[in-house]
Amino acid sequence: MKFGIDKIGFYIPKYYIDMRELATMRGIDPDKFTYGLGQDEMSVPPLTQDMISLATNAAYNTISEQDLNDIDLVILATETGSDFSKSGSTSIVSLLGINPKSRCIEIKQACYSATAALQFAKNHLQSNDDKKVLIIASDISRYGLDTSGEATQGAGAVAMLITKDPSLLVLSDKSSYFSEDVWDFWRPNYSDTAIVDGHYSNEQYQRFFNQTFEDYKEKYDRQNSDFDAFLFHIPYTKLGRKTLINYINPSKEIINTFNQSTLFNRKVGNIYTGSLYLSLISLLYNADLDANARIGLYSYGSGAVGEFFSMKLVEGYQDALDPNLPHQFDTREKLTIKDYESMFTAELVSDGSHMILPDDNETFQLKEIKGHRRYYQKN
Ligand code: HMG
Repeated sequence: MKFGIDKIGFYIPKYYIDMRELATMRGIDPDKFTYGLGQDEMSVPPLTQDMISLATNAAYNTISEQDLNDIDLVILATETGSDFSKSGSTSIVSLLGINPKSRCIEIKQACYSATAALQFAKNHLQSNDDKKVLIIASDISRYGLDTSGEATQGAGAVAMLITKDPSLLVLSDKSSYFSEDVWDFWRPNYSDTAIVDGHYSNEQYQRFFNQTFEDYKEKYDRQNSDFDAFLFHIPYTKLGRKTLINYINPSKEIINTFNQSTLFNRKVGNIYTGSLYLSLISLLYNADLDANARIGLYSYGSGAVGEFFSMKLVEGYQDALDPNLPHQFDTREKLTIKDYESMFTAELVSDGSHMILPDDNETFQLKEIKGHRRYYQKN
C-alpha cells in the first residue's frame, strides 16, 4: 500500500518586513541579508496569531468538510508550545470541528518534529487505512531585536493531510536518521527567544546532512543522480544552497529546482518545523517536475536530529494543488521597522489577568486570555 501527502497548505501572518530596510536600520550592508543569507522578506506575527491560531488557519486552508470526519489522528509539531501539559492540538480539533474520536498530540524536537510526525502518520495508517492524519507544523522563530539571529526569524504554519493512495506525494520507506547531543540552538523554558551558537549550528547542520545522506546512499545503493530534486530544512536559503553545492555537486537542473523550492522561504524566513515543508510547497507551485520524480528531503532539528528521506511525485499532482494558496503573499502588509519592533516587544499577560485582543480579521485568532486560559475566535 502507498501512503503519503494527499493535501498540503500553509498560512503566514499578514505582516512582513523588507530585509533591506531591516539591514539599513541596523547599520548592516543590505546585501548581507539578501545575498549573504538569501532572505528578501520576513513574516511578522501580531499577538493575535500565536502558534495555535497560525496552525488552525493553515489546517483550515488545507482540509475539506469530508476530511474533518475522516481524520482520526492530529499531530501538532512545534517548538513554540504555550503550555507544558495541554497540547495545542486539543484546541485545534474543536476550533475546526474535527471528528472528536481522534488522537491528538503535540510533539517537539526543534525543527525536525514534523518529519517524525510523517513517519508516525504512515505507521498509524498501515493499520487504519480508511482514516486520514492531519499534521501541522507551526512556529514563531524569535532571537531578539538587533541580535545576529534577527535576520533569520519568521512565522508561519504548514498543514499536511496524510492518507493512503495520496494525490501529491508518496512517502518512501527508505530513510536514514542520526541523533547526537549538540548545543547549537536551544530555548530554555524560561525564555521566549532562542539561544544560538550560530556558526557552530551551521556546521552541525552540514555535518548531519553529510552523515544521513551518505548513510542513505550506502544503505539503499543510491547515487546523487537518482534524485530529481533536493529539498532542505531552510533556516535561511543560503544554508540550503551551500549544502547543496558543497555535498551534492548538483547539475544546472538541480540548482534550478532548488531555487524554485526556496522562493516562498525567501519571503517568510525561518518557520522552524514547517520550513522544509514550505520549501516543498514552493517546489510544487513553482517547478515543473514529471510524475514519479524522486525528491530527496533533508530534515534537521537542532539539539540535534537529522533525517534524509524521499518522496515520489504522483501523476497529475498539479491538479490537486489549490491555486489560491500563494495569493496570501499578495495581500500582505509591509511594516516599517519601528512598527515591527513594537509588534515584536508586545506581550500577552502571564499573571492570570484578563486581556482582550482586537479583531484581526483572519479566519482564526487568539481573542482573549482569562484565568491563564487562551480563548480563540473564528471571524
Ligand atoms: P552572522 O555572523 O551575522 O553572519 O550570522 P556571517 O558573518 O556568517 O555572514 C552570513 C553570510 O553573509 C556569509 O556568507 C557572509 O560571507 C555573507 P557565507 O560565507 O556563509 O557564504 N556576507 C555578505 N554577502 C554579501 N554582501 C555583504 C556580506 N556580508 C556578509 N556585504 C547566522 C549568520 C546564520 C549564523 C546568524 O544569523 C544566526 O545565528 N542565525 C540563527 C541560527 C541559524 O539559523 N542556524 C542555521 C543552522 S541550525 C538550524 O537550521 C536549526 C534552526 O532552524 C533551529 C531548529 O532546529 O529549531 C535554527
